[in-house]
Amino acid sequence: MDTEITMRVDGARRRLTVDTRTTLLDALRERLGVTSPKKGCDHGQCGACTVLSGGRRVLSCLTLAVTQDGAEVVTAEGLAAAEATEGGPLTDGGLHPVQRAFIDCDAFQCGYCTPGQVVSAVGMLQEFARGGPSAVTRGTGAAGLDRAEVAERMSGNLCRCAAYVNIVRAVQQAAAPATDRQRPTGSEAAR
Ligand code: FES
Ligand code: FES
Repeated sequence: MDTEITMRVDGARRRLTVDTRTTLLDALRERLGVTSPKKGCDHGQCGACTVLSGGRRVLSCLTLAVTQDGAEVVTAEGLAAAEATEGGPLTDGGLHPVQRAFIDCDAFQCGYCTPGQVVSAVGMLQEFARGGPSAVTRGTGAAGLDRAEVAERMSGNLCRCAAYVNIVRAVQQAAAPATDRQRPTGSEAAR
């Protein structure tokens, strides 16, 4: 059965007719040409397809497109524009602070998981700021986003290149107040 839905995707209103069995991931990639969400496992195991829906991170491969009628969907392509719309700070080159941090910290190798990692980190930092608990702490915790906290909160995003050390550093850099952000030097980023 087909049905018509309307979503805002990366700030643009998109209307399309989809089979009710179509996933949000397939609607984005195959119907709308939005290819930053990646199809890794296609069954909720890797996080490569992560997007924000209503500000919360969701696995688009497990989300039916029809459930997103009227939703505000943001992918890695639209993060910077969404941040600017909300009055948030952008960095050199008009990047979202999390995107900038991934570059600064050399937090990727092949890059296949990176759009999902970046979107997940943005959603996770918002969850953390709201005091959302994790299995490591029951709230924001006095220790803040230490390595264990970041690893737990990002555990839904796998990296087959195992760039985890620098991914954690990037998330911690992005989490720091803008005035405290210091880009690592080349040697620090490479460690
Ligand atoms: Fe969605 Fe792997 S493609 S979790
Ligand atoms: Fe290659 Fe993560 S950078 S899968």
